[in-house]
Amino acid sequence: MTFDAVDVIRAKRDGGELSDAQIDWTIDAYTKGVIAEEQMSALAMAILLKGMTRREVARWTDAMIRSGERMDWSGLSRPTADKHSTGGVGDKITLPLAPTVAACGAAVPQLSGRGLGHTGGTLDKLESIPGWRASLSNEEMLAVLDRAGAVVCAAGSGLAPADRKLYALRDVTGTVESIPLIASSIMSKKIAEGTGALVLDVKAGSGAFMKSVEDARELARTMVAIGADHGVRTVALLTAMDTPLGRTVGNAIEVDESVEVLAGGGPEDVVELTVALAREMLAAAGLAGAKDPADALRDGSAMDAWRSMITAQGGDPDAPLPVAKETHEVLATESGVLTRLDAFGVGVAAWRLGAGRARKEDPVAHAAGIVLHAKPGETVHAGQPLMTLHADDPSRFERALAALEGAVEVETAVGETSERPLVIDRIA
Ligand code: URA
Repeated sequence: MTFDAVDVIRAKRDGGELSDAQIDWTIDAYTKGVIAEEQMSALAMAILLKGMTRREVARWTDAMIRSGERMDWSGLSRPTADKHSTGGVGDKITLPLAPTVAACGAAVPQLSGRGLGHTGGTLDKLESIPGWRASLSNEEMLAVLDRAGAVVCAAGSGLAPADRKLYALRDVTGTVESIPLIASSIMSKKIAEGTGALVLDVKAGSGAFMKSVEDARELARTMVAIGADHGVRTVALLTAMDTPLGRTVGNAIEVDESVEVLAGGGPEDVVELTVALAREMLAAAGLAGAKDPADALRDGSAMDAWRSMITAQGGDPDAPLPVAKETHEVLATESGVLTRLDAFGVGVAAWRLGAGRARKEDPVAHAAGIVLHAKPGETVHAGQPLMTLHADDPSRFERALAALEGAVEVETAVGETSERPLVIDRIA
């Protein structure tokens, strides 16, 4: 059936509900270039302003999945489970998580992204490992999954091409922040990826897409419903992103920290979230009685899976990681308790140091980033280093320091603090 793009735009602009046939036609016509970019941007804005019903979001997602290939892992001997995070600062969780879940018996086929803006990307972090390759063919993906139990790589161009085109358009038309559009974008890629179970880490706070817990909860509910409508067992954890995860924000330094977690150590919050997400993935994959992820981190089996996964993708897990040419220390100006270390400010500072990119085609500086010496709740003394900035180009320090202004608070007299827990809620 053929429609007129202007009629579809008008229908949504006036608060109407699009029919299945209208949605199918819209996604297909846009992918083929029949609907012009300016028409799709008007429609995206109408969706942002008027929303979508559950049926519309499910159909929109379905049409985006059908715009490309759907991968199939049914030939594997293990059940598949994946995780998606809505993005945060210092969020290196995929690195310890994927091999940990593999060590406990599930297969993890993870198609990941690169960072844009102040949030980091898993592929950028892994690419700081010498030799490691993000681009794999479907056959190579299957071979790595079979051998290592986990694969983390870039999505090929055949996967949800409608989303690829629409996401780029939303990025430049102020239409990213629409819950139906974010949910359908994420879920179309995850469902097309062919995972049987999916755990969503939906972040709320200054360093996240969703600043409020209410918005994050609505996004989580929408995505869980889409997963259920498509036969993917989906669970979401709502997690706090007010302060960076762990003590490193960057690429190579986050790999270092992830390896510490895989060696049975590492920062408490990274371990807590890795174990919580891993347990959810195993339960969703029907492996609730399998080995516990905390044991896999302790007994070296998660580390073995990591080494196997990195090696299978051409990386050398023993090679030294890039080190920044220059460092700059930020010192505490007074003694007291660190009460705030704002995720957004730290994320922007790391980005300005070169850890992130301003445009999609820019390279990242793998050694750039920030090492945090204190986290909220810890006591600091005047003159003590609070963080160390790492960059290859020292001219970057000034703008990074500007981003950190107001991001750090030390209080001398601290009353009752009501810091929210890392895992705020669970939605299934
Ligand atoms: N990540 C995605 O893949 N899509 C969005 O719309 C937002 C975040």
